Amino acid sequence: MTESLNTNLLHPRQRVGDSLKRWREAGGGEALALAVKNPAAVLELVKEADLRGLGGSGFPVWRKWEAVAQAPAGTDKYLVCNGNEDEPGTYKDRLLLEETPHQVIEGALLAALAVGANRVAFYVNPDLKRSLAALELALAQWQGSERQQWVGDALGRPVVLELVPSSGHYIGGEETAALEWIEGKFPFPRGKPPYPAQCGVHGCPTLVNNVETLANLPALVRHGAAWFRAQGVGKAGGTKLYSLSGDVLHPGVYELPMGTTLRDLIFVHGGGLLSGKPIKAVFTGGPSNTLLTPADLDVALDFDSLKERGAALGTGAMIVVSEGTGIVKRVAEYVRFFAHSSCGQCPSCKTGTATISRLLDRIDTGQGTEADMATLETLCAMLPGSGRCHLVNGVVQLLDSSFRHFRQEYRQALRP
Ligand SMILES: Cc1cc2nc3c(=O)[nH]c(=O)nc-3n(C[C@H](O)[C@H](O)[C@H](O)COP(=O)(O)O)c2cc1C
Repeated sequence: MTESLNTNLLHPRQRVGDSLKRWREAGGGEALALAVKNPAAVLELVKEADLRGLGGSGFPVWRKWEAVAQAPAGTDKYLVCNGNEDEPGTYKDRLLLEETPHQVIEGALLAALAVGANRVAFYVNPDLKRSLAALELALAQWQGSERQQWVGDALGRPVVLELVPSSGHYIGGEETAALEWIEGKFPFPRGKPPYPAQCGVHGCPTLVNNVETLANLPALVRHGAAWFRAQGVGKAGGTKLYSLSGDVLHPGVYELPMGTTLRDLIFVHGGGLLSGKPIKAVFTGGPSNTLLTPADLDVALDFDSLKERGAALGTGAMIVVSEGTGIVKRVAEYVRFFAHSSCGQCPSCKTGTATISRLLDRIDTGQGTEADMATLETLCAMLPGSGRCHLVNGVVQLLDSSFRHFRQEYRQALRP
């Protein structure tokens, strides 16, 4: 189910196979026409609107943009539109690509204009077949178009649009892994610094933004920063695509004001829990973040409000579990996925996530001991920050958070 309260991201008239002409009739292309006259204004708008990166980090978009915009000209500059989307419970980017691919392309070109990128790679998970097909069709309608030409003229060199199916690995969504794959190598994350803005694809300055981040740009440019901020609740601006799943009556992707409460998302939009059962926990972000509990139902689902509570919005995925669900088993399942997804480059991640996974399985099957719990606690203290990318940190956040809220359940599962 898809509910679109605002037409900022998911325009109801956009459907797979829609022609460029019909998209234009819905206001598509107007933002680009405005931006080619004054590309620098787009960066200012993004700054004023405080648009955040919606791929999980919530990082202020303008900061990466400024770094790429200021990088010396002379080489190519790349923009990577990140549509790898492989984290459990997250299924928003595929919807944008399927339902409104022209908006994503326009958003990417607005970003390219703002930072001076002449090569735009749409990096999409090959398992998302409908997204790939919709984007391929839409891109064919942009290739050689007047609009593509405008951007090239404004940049002073032709802009190249290409579709790059990713490897499909979860790790391939990490931004530096994406750079490697686009260069034709296995998507192993790189060490940072240098950041992609300094040294990205083939050593060129590169901006990596998530599909949803870029999809926000056309409406933001058309209506302005004040309008954008007013779409959110309180200090949070814009709307958010929340992927709601688990034990709810109406799972789906909901576009709602950024800062909507967890209670409203679950009970007003998601129809409450299946069979009216009480809620036990919500895995946020997707599960590589923290757990929320019934005590958090009135928390605003935006980056800052969740951070203040020691939690994180991540991708905006909310996996709801009802009373009666075993937390240890569920955490063990997610950790198994992350351990399996580790690329194996960093020993701490490879062996750390595998060890956590093994110990959780032992505890879940009634074989665990106090010593296993102590080892898990030690790993939680030791591992964060030890990998090249964030994967191992995500596993620790999940485990740590589950200990904080459900330690008793772990204890009860130990071998008597
Ligand atoms: C293991 C891992 C997987 C990731 N997968 C994705 C992904 O599928 N899509 C995405 O946009 N960002 C993903 N990210 C975050 C990216 O590294 C990067 O922060 C993001 O693409 C930047 O876009 P944004 O600033 O618009 O959010 C992942 C990060 C990690 C550590």
